[in-house]
Amino acid sequence: MVDANPSPGFKILAREDFSDVTYSLVIHHPLMAKAARPGQFVIVMSHETGERVPLTIADFDRAKGTVTLVVQAVGKSTKEMQQICQVGTSLYGVVGPMGVPSPVAGKKKVVCVGGGLGVAPIFPQARGFKENGAYVIGILGFRNKNLIFWEDKFRACCDELILCTDDGSAGMKGFVSDGIKVAIAGHSNIDEVVAIGPPIMMKVCAETTRPHGIRTIVSLNPIMVDGTGMCGGCRVKIGNEMKFACVDGPDFDGHKVDFGDLMMRLKRYAEEEKAALDRWSENCRMMQRIPPALKSGEAGDSVLQMPDPFDDVLGG
Ligand SMILES: Cc1cc2nc3c(=O)[nH]c(=O)nc-3n(C[C@H](O)[C@H](O)[C@H](O)COP(=O)(O)OP(=O)(O)OC[C@H]3O[C@@H](n4cnc5c(N)ncnc54)[C@H](O)[C@@H]3O)c2cc1C
Ligand code: FES
Repeated sequence: MVDANPSPGFKILAREDFSDVTYSLVIHHPLMAKAARPGQFVIVMSHETGERVPLTIADFDRAKGTVTLVVQAVGKSTKEMQQICQVGTSLYGVVGPMGVPSPVAGKKKVVCVGGGLGVAPIFPQARGFKENGAYVIGILGFRNKNLIFWEDKFRACCDELILCTDDGSAGMKGFVSDGIKVAIAGHSNIDEVVAIGPPIMMKVCAETTRPHGIRTIVSLNPIMVDGTGMCGGCRVKIGNEMKFACVDGPDFDGHKVDFGDLMMRLKRYAEEEKAALDRWSENCRMMQRIPPALKSGEAGDSVLQMPDPFDDVLGG
């Protein structure tokens, strides 16, 4: 694991906004780019007092020394990052790579399924399978055509690409599970399906492949705190066993995952998360009401020395 946190932080070299809630950040981090493997993640702190946010390594370029993260702004920290993480600024901390790399060698035919934001983390696996000689069928699902991203990157590394939209505005109308049915109908020799997306999507994908006996791997994102197997926050039930997603995963056998337990645990801190978001949003509104002269400190910095309202909020 690279524990690199030199003082200037990790510079954001590029950013792309895919929608009003989804954005990618290309970070200069040569050591991370060198160490990263498909399926791994990092824990990011955008500033010194920021929350630790686990994010999957969506791409890495060893020659350029960069890693790419794709983030969905869902709560206080990811919305704050959406505001402050601009090209030229730096992330305070990026720790990793964490998690067990996904095995991408030794397969002849694989299906890589990404739903919504899950399209980003499945990319390194699709590329890794291809680099190792597999026939790769990509299945990407979005709600509508306006939300599509990285189609070109997948076309470059997939032998076949099935694009699905919920409303039929691009590709086939349907969910990624419908795409899996198409792939299975066309190929009797699929070794493995890898599916990444919201828990309910991964559950449905696993149920689609179960009757066909096709090994199905899913990537689980329970709430993580330390990311090193110490806190127990990321416990997931896999068959009769309890596993820690941060050190035993995040990839697991989708046919054994207790998705009900995962979904229940993800909602555990909903009240605290909402409180943190409300307080942050109110703070932003207050900052907007402060005249620019005060913001720039002309009337004395003490005016802006507001307490950090998030210090005491767990998980937010
Ligand atoms: C291994 C892993 C990889 C991930 N990769 C990505 C990614 O590539 N892109 C992306 O946008 N998101 C990813 N996530 C989810 C991301 O970490 C959460 O969306 C983020 O922490 C939410 O923080 P928040 O303050 O913005 O929202 P909050 O309001 O605090 O939480 C919103 C929801 O996010 C989840 N969440 C909150 N805190 C955590 C946490 N510490 N760990 C995991 N989930 C949490 C909960 O389900 C919660 O209900 C990943 C999570 C894990 C565990
Ligand atoms: S995040 Fe603490 S044990 Fe996994």
